[in-house]
Amino acid sequence: MPELIPVLSREEIKERITGVAVQISKDYDNRELVLIGVLKGAFVFLSDLIRQLTIPVQLDFVSVTSYGSGTSSTGEIRLTKNLGIDIGGKDVLIVEDIIDSGLTLKWLVEYMNSLNPRSVKVCTFIDKRERREEKISVDYTCHTVEEGFLVGYGLDYAEDYRYLPGIYHLKL
Ligand code: IMP
Ligand code: MG
Repeated sequence: MPELIPVLSREEIKERITGVAVQISKDYDNRELVLIGVLKGAFVFLSDLIRQLTIPVQLDFVSVTSYGSGTSSTGEIRLTKNLGIDIGGKDVLIVEDIIDSGLTLKWLVEYMNSLNPRSVKVCTFIDKRERREEKISVDYTCHTVEEGFLVGYGLDYAEDYRYLPGIYHLKL
């Protein structure tokens, strides 16, 4: 039986997001900010984050495939849902659930930059250091872990566990 070890509770998650939301609201005051969520994992985090911001923003989503049903990146990235709004001249904040190898994010930052926005920055709920392969700068992080496979709060293992309100370490 897979074991679920608690990492962050619902209450802890809320506190972490408040801190990041205050910072983003300050940094992007009087700018044209577009939040771009990476489906599906980031949808829970992004929906909480957007309601804690105190500045007006626009919202869009992209979907990429890089993972199969296992627990590690294949390195091959493909866009399966593109942007619906024009980000030219705007400030873009990519919102991720978790950064692992960094391959997905590196690809996404390069792709966004090719569309001539004013700026591109990165916000992640979890920064996982263990398997980082790409040097990428992460501008806003709610929680850092060294290792392990995490589920809950939008994060899945083979499409399961996304519904859990907290974050758990999955031991298979
Ligand atoms: P990267 O390209 O290796 O950084 O992979 C990033 C994507 O892999 C994340 O957006 C997640 O969808 C998925 N991923 C990486 N680590 C985990 C994890 O611990 N739990 C759930 N999904 C993960
Ligand atoms: Mg993801």
